[in-house]
Amino acid sequence: MSGAVAFAVAQRLAGTVCVVTGAARGIGLAIAERFAAEGGRIACFDVGAARLDAAVTGLVERGIDARAYVADVGRREAVASAFEAVERDFGAPVGVLVNNAVWARFQPLAEVDEESVGRMFDVGLKGLIWTLQAAAPQMQRRGGGSIVNLSSTSALQALTHSTGYAAMKAGVLGLTRAAAVELSPMGIRVNAIVPGMIGTPASIAKFDEATVKARLASMPLARFGEPQEIASVAAFLASEDSRYVQGAEIVADGGWTIATR
Ligand SMILES: NC(=O)c1ccc[n+]([C@@H]2O[C@H](COP(=O)([O-])OP(=O)(O)OC[C@H]3O[C@@H](n4cnc5c(N)ncnc54)[C@H](O)[C@@H]3O)[C@@H](O)[C@H]2O)c1
Repeated sequence: MSGAVAFAVAQRLAGTVCVVTGAARGIGLAIAERFAAEGGRIACFDVGAARLDAAVTGLVERGIDARAYVADVGRREAVASAFEAVERDFGAPVGVLVNNAVWARFQPLAEVDEESVGRMFDVGLKGLIWTLQAAAPQMQRRGGGSIVNLSSTSALQALTHSTGYAAMKAGVLGLTRAAAVELSPMGIRVNAIVPGMIGTPASIAKFDEATVKARLASMPLARFGEPQEIASVAAFLASEDSRYVQGAEIVADGGWTIATR
């Protein structure tokens, strides 16, 4: 596994077909790597074709059973056909789904435009309904499954210029609970991870030095998280180790929200 963080890894996902959206980089790629290390077979969804191809080629070169699917999760038909292709290609139904893809804009309220907020909700909120619709019948056929949705501490604590993002990520929590209730009879669990500030290129580049310093000062663990530290939570939720956990949200933020809320 890449990165500085080392974990003891079991084979909790041996042979399981796992869909990870937004898997070309950042947290999604770390989740794909972690699931593969746990024996999972990985279907990587993303819109960035070149980046996705490079990421999946890197996984395959390390002997990982991974395939690339260029699919915009904001488009229902694209999602449905990608899930059909996954079952065909792997010869087995999907057992794990991680909704990680995001398209985000942080704007002052007065500048929020229809196109940006529409795209943000299409990818990060409506897209989850399309992936759940496509995944649930496959999971039901294999006798159950686990779905993990990425929310954010922005759903819990107020940050400036984040009305759209906060609404989207709070929506993910509501959707997670509603889907958990509805899909329980099919043996499908649906849970959410609520990450704080994770050190991905996209996240850190957004902030100036003063903001980064102030944020670190308000975090009990006094550091940003690593993508691999979110991937380890995802692996727990994806696996049978969490089999009595349903409709829950696990906050992984170094204590940021308990200290500032
Ligand atoms: N990085 C953080 O600090 C942080 C904090 C809290 C929550 N999160 C959440 O974790 C998840 C991953 O964050 P990240 O920082 O790794 O993001 P990122 O921006 O680095 O990666 C997101 C990936 O999603 C892909 N994507 C965008 N639109 C898509 C679409 N329509 N269909 C399919 N794929 C699409 C992008 O191409 C990209 O590869 C997101 O849901 C994010 O909101 C991140």
